Amino acid sequence: MSNLIFDQLIQKETKIAVIGLGYVGLPIALEFARKIQVVGFDINQERVDLMKNNIDPSNELESSAFEGCDIAFTCDLNDLRDVTFYVVAVPTPIDDANLPNLKPLLGASATVGKVLKKGDYVVFESTVYPGCTEEDCIPVLEAESGLKFKDDFMVGYSPERINPGDKEHTLRNVIKVVSGCCDVSLDQIAKVYELVVDAGVHRAPSIKVAEAAKIIENTQRDVNIALINELSIIFNKLKINTFDVLEAAGTKWNFLKFSPGLVGGHCIGVDPYYLTHKAQLAGYHSKVITSGRYVNDSMGFYIAKQTVKKIIARGKHIQDAKVLVMGATFKEDVSDIRNSKVIDIVSELVSFQVHVDLIDPHASSDEMKHEYGVGLLEKAANDYDAIIVAVNHKEYQQMIESDFKGMLTDGSGVFVDVKGIFRNKIKDLEYWSL
Ligand SMILES: NC(=O)c1ccc[n+]([C@@H]2O[C@H](COP(=O)([O-])OP(=O)(O)OC[C@H]3O[C@@H](n4cnc5c(N)ncnc54)[C@H](O)[C@@H]3O)[C@@H](O)[C@H]2O)c1
Repeated sequence: MSNLIFDQLIQKETKIAVIGLGYVGLPIALEFARKIQVVGFDINQERVDLMKNNIDPSNELESSAFEGCDIAFTCDLNDLRDVTFYVVAVPTPIDDANLPNLKPLLGASATVGKVLKKGDYVVFESTVYPGCTEEDCIPVLEAESGLKFKDDFMVGYSPERINPGDKEHTLRNVIKVVSGCCDVSLDQIAKVYELVVDAGVHRAPSIKVAEAAKIIENTQRDVNIALINELSIIFNKLKINTFDVLEAAGTKWNFLKFSPGLVGGHCIGVDPYYLTHKAQLAGYHSKVITSGRYVNDSMGFYIAKQTVKKIIARGKHIQDAKVLVMGATFKEDVSDIRNSKVIDIVSELVSFQVHVDLIDPHASSDEMKHEYGVGLLEKAANDYDAIIVAVNHKEYQQMIESDFKGMLTDGSGVFVDVKGIFRNKIKDLEYWSL
């Protein structure tokens, strides 16, 4: 087997393909396309058409990011003919029972298997449990291609660390973990990624180690946030402001700086389930990780209940109450609404027969309706009993107390500041935060 795959790529004799052009796939495809020839493959024709017109369907990249790139966007398998190096970056969601849904990953493996040739490389970037690449994906590659792993083709795994909406930690400036199935493949894969990652690569000793490294990065975050969320429930009972406590404790050198909040999106709230699933199969019933998931998944309902209590305490009949929820996306300053926990706040309020209006300057109302059956209001009204700032979008951070007063009946009511961004800034309204 040729070990010159890197040389062939930089001499533009062969191409690299990125399979799945979402939040992860498109940025890496464009970075490679500044150095080598790239085929950007996706099954979604609509998205491919947008990218052909220099538009990022995920709304993360400006059109200038496409300039100077040697990339052909396609849904057609025939366009993968000259490709020798495949990067797979398709989604790895969970199903309704919180179990891994490998359908997109196995589908993409089948796609690659159909065009795989002797000497080719396949590197998976999707977040998976340790063992998934070798136990689930490689058998599909072998079955579809009729080729033999290691004898005929090489496989690696290189997890992605980009953070949606984060312009500081980018693909280029964050060390990337790479792994291969042997020393030669590790070296070739590392060289290919070194082309685009200025911060360099970390060579993990095996594919499983690289898979595990990624999954624990997000699991650790999830568990840490869960602890702070639990503390905020305790502090609420003790009538102490959690953010005041965190500010004080944070002056110690080794106190970890996490804050309470909703844990949504398709990474932190999802990846731990991949690990607990694998642990279960290995005969270990994870307790700490699943407890963390339980706490974090309950926060939307908790916030809604606290709001309801406060409205009732003000003498309002809850069925006549009207609440404005500000922010619908899974985190600040992004348009992604997938697995947003704001919807838990909304549905819990609705279960108390509260009238809820939802606004968001970044999210699409059509997408919200499609995903959750709840649309967005264009403009807030001025007769609410409570306002919940659920997501700290920059547009909201610029608002002041009088802006909120203008939206509340008679200029007064309950003000729920989920992320504590208005702490010490709200004087007249009934303030509550996590
Ligand atoms: N979004 C992030 O910030 C982030 C960060 C680190 C890791 N990850 C991981 O990276 C992987 C990709 O996530 P994402 O956020 O980029 O997903 P995404 O949903 O933004 O994009 C996935 C793309 O893959 C395409 N696709 C789906 N099935 C396909 C198939 N069979 N063949 C070809 N294309 C297909 C979709 O049409 C879509 O364009 C996931 O495993 C995720 O956990 C994501």
